[in-house]
Amino acid sequence: MASENLMASAVRLGASVDALAALAAFVRLETEDLPADPVVRELLSRIAEELGADIGTTGAPAEAAPVVGLARTFLRQAAELIENPGRSGGWEQVDVPLLQSIGRLSMAISGAIMTAERLLPDLGAQLGRADSTFLDIGTGTGWLAIAMAQTHPDLTVTGIDIFSPSLDLARANVREAGLDGRVELLLQDATQLPAGPGYDAIWLPLPFLPGVIIEPVIAAAARALRPGGWLLPGTFIGPPDRLSQLLNDLRIVRSGGHPWRPDEIAGMLTGAGFAGAQEIPRSWAAPVQLWAGQRR
Ligand SMILES: C[S@@+](CC[C@H](N)C(=O)[O-])C[C@H]1O[C@@H](n2cnc3c(N)ncnc32)[C@H](O)[C@@H]1O
Repeated sequence: MASENLMASAVRLGASVDALAALAAFVRLETEDLPADPVVRELLSRIAEELGADIGTTGAPAEAAPVVGLARTFLRQAAELIENPGRSGGWEQVDVPLLQSIGRLSMAISGAIMTAERLLPDLGAQLGRADSTFLDIGTGTGWLAIAMAQTHPDLTVTGIDIFSPSLDLARANVREAGLDGRVELLLQDATQLPAGPGYDAIWLPLPFLPGVIIEPVIAAAARALRPGGWLLPGTFIGPPDRLSQLLNDLRIVRSGGHPWRPDEIAGMLTGAGFAGAQEIPRSWAAPVQLWAGQRR
């Protein structure tokens, strides 16, 4: 690419970066009690309108958090990519705002799981039972565990992780959310899950687990579920164009995971003996793709 074209591309793409930041800033001003220069507020409002952003769907703080989390996550990860362009994948990061932001973004997964509950009545019934249990693998800062407990009043959640700094943040987040009694956090490797707790459902975050451990983790999860319980693997998804798919694969690889193709995930579930392995049709906006398989 000639240097003129390179700069032209950079200028064009820079507008998208600014637009994402402006959208998140607008959502924060609309949902948090923050002071704002009136001229800046007016410009942010006009930019949001130009973007077609419907504040009606993001106006509630609970719905705004994942949107701001996404913007913070993408922009921080983008800056880190420039600083460390060649680093290999992994998740041992101590950038606390990034850890919290990706946690906030992952709260949106609970909405995808609730859609799956409507499509799979067995799953809905199990997570609605009075003594139901949910395992959050790779709980990180605990925000998905918190969102599951908040959206399912009778659910007890166990969050496991191998990264102590994140678990320390998760403990503080759970305490602040008033969920100490319903969210348990454990230093535990997903490959070493004990058999038999009899969970009703297990969330498996594919982007953060190396490809070579996925089959052993699926086998361990099968032993930890109760018969009839559900394994819910999920991964990142972006817009369908080729560039967005490559950028999504890059995000997954730098997060420590493997960019699985949809049929490979369903095939691994079936191969591990799960019944009804399927991709849940995505009717939510959050950038997560979800599968489900039921333990026989
Ligand atoms: C980025 S977090 C996911 C976000 C999380 N849902 C939240 O609310 O913060 C993914 C986590 O998976 C953890 N992880 C990676 N390999 C793991 C393994 N083998 N067992 C358990 N957790 C693992 C990482 O340490 C990381 O904290």
